[in-house]
Amino acid sequence: MNIKNMKRDSFSHSIYKMRKIFFVVAASTVVAVIASIASCSGSIPEPTPSQSVWASDKWPGTTYETLVHGRELYIAKCSGCHSLHAPSEYSERRWSAIVDTMKFKAKLNDSEAVLITKYLASAAQNNLSSSR
Ligand code: HEC
Repeated sequence: MNIKNMKRDSFSHSIYKMRKIFFVVAASTVVAVIASIASCSGSIPEPTPSQSVWASDKWPGTTYETLVHGRELYIAKCSGCHSLHAPSEYSERRWSAIVDTMKFKAKLNDSEAVLITKYLASAAQNNLSSSR
C-alpha cells in the first residue's frame, strides 16, 4: 500500500464516521419530535357524544363537529407560549374566563374564541373535582 492510498483510506473512514454521527443525530431528532407531538395532544381528549349533548343544550346549534373544531383550534392556537392545559384542570366557568383573557394573547377572532370555549367548557363540564 503506498502513501496515496493510505491517505484516501483514512479520509473515507472519517466520512464514514461523520455519516454515522449524522444518522444517530437525525434518528434521535425524529424520535424527539414524534414524542413531543404525542405528548402535546395526548392530554387533550376528543369530545365525547355526551359532552356534545350537554353543549347543544347550553348553546343551541352546537354540534359534535363544533367541539371537534374547537379542540383543533385549541391545539393550534394555544400551544405557542406554554404547554396545553388539560380541560380537566379547570372548571367550566374558569375556562370561559381564561379564554376571555388568553384570546388577546393568542390573537383569536370572536368566533375562534367561542369555539375554543365551547370545547374546553364542555370537556370540563362534569369535572366536579376541579375547584379552580
Ligand atoms: C402569547 C402567549 C400566549 C398564548 C398564545 C396563550 N397563552 Fe395562556 N398564558 C400565557 C402566559 C404568559 C400565562 C401566565 C401568566 C398569566 O396567567 O397571564 C398564561 C397562562 C395560561 C393559563 C393558566 C392560567 C391560570 O390562572 O392558572 C391557562 C389555562 C392558559 N394560559 C390558557 C391559554 C389558552 C386557552 C390559550 C389559547 C386561547 C392560551 N393560553 C394562549 C401566554 C399565552
